[in-house]
Amino acid sequence: MKSIEMRSVLLITVYFIILAIGVASAQDSVTCVRRYSKCFLKRLHCPAECPHTKPSKSKNKACYLDCNKCEAFCRGRKPSCNGLGSGCYDPRFIGGDGVVFYFNGKRDNHYALVSDRSMQINARFIGLRPQNRTRDFTWIQALGLMFDSRTFTVEAKRVKTWNETTDHLSFTLDGTSFQLREGYLSKWNSEDDTLLIERTERVNSLMITVNGVAEISVTVVPVTEQDDKIHGYNIPKDDCFAHLEVQFRFLGISQEVEGVLGRTYRPDYVSTVKRGVEMPVVGGADKYETTSLLSSDCKLCLFSPSQVANA
Ligand SMILES: *[C@@H]1O[C@H](CO)[C@@H](O)[C@H](O)[C@H]1NC(C)=O
Ligand SMILES: *[C@@H]1O[C@H](CO)[C@@H](O)[C@H](O)[C@H]1NC(C)=O
Repeated sequence: MKSIEMRSVLLITVYFIILAIGVASAQDSVTCVRRYSKCFLKRLHCPAECPHTKPSKSKNKACYLDCNKCEAFCRGRKPSCNGLGSGCYDPRFIGGDGVVFYFNGKRDNHYALVSDRSMQINARFIGLRPQNRTRDFTWIQALGLMFDSRTFTVEAKRVKTWNETTDHLSFTLDGTSFQLREGYLSKWNSEDDTLLIERTERVNSLMITVNGVAEISVTVVPVTEQDDKIHGYNIPKDDCFAHLEVQFRFLGISQEVEGVLGRTYRPDYVSTVKRGVEMPVVGGADKYETTSLLSSDCKLCLFSPSQVANA
């Protein structure tokens, strides 16, 4: 009698140990590789709501680690236009301070979104100006990244009509264009692993990781007929103004960081946005304009490729 009891206790114990191992391995763990983080190299388990850093379905949330708070948290891998560090629509940004603002640039011009000593991210604006309007409507068509002595660009291809089953992204690394196979989680990395690009949908969505510097999620979208009507853009029949929705997560920027969006991450940044205004606009187009997608020649730009090369 006693031995039967013993055996069942043992069996139950073994069962729970196996179950515990099963649960533990069903969840990824994440760790901070930044030396000054409080949780440097400490392993933290992902929450049950988002057990994986790369979920098997694109609609599921992924597990991230906040190396300041030392907490794992859940977030979609596609840009959230209401999240910190986002730039969507014509373009509307949400700064590092959480404040929403619109930026008035000119179509076919380039602006430094982020400029720091170690990297720069520019945007190219496309757009149009309907008759009798004093300003252009603009959208972000491309991003240009400069880091180390490398350059990377991602662009939305110009198309007449939107077809959601077709990929509308194109890329270059150091001036050479390359392909990224279609398919969720299809990825490409540079030989030195400083740059990783991964699709977060079969087509039209990406996560770009510049090692230790930034994570940028990008989705291509058209200006829809509905947006056109609501805002009175007067989009022509031969161009749906395919553009990028972006969201940045910075992993290593300095306290002096500049740029239309970058400056809102400075600890001493005082927003000039008028609170309570429906469409708060911030200026600075003259300070952040660059001559091309991959130049760092704006008035307040901090990045200098030659300096980085010398260091
Ligand atoms: C632009 O303004 C002019 C003069 O006020 C007017 O005649 C014209 O109809 C306006 N055009 C549009 C598209 O609103
Ligand atoms: C969209 O593209 C796919 C493949 O590229 C094609 O088969 C389909 O007919 C296109 N749809 C429209 C509405 O053009």
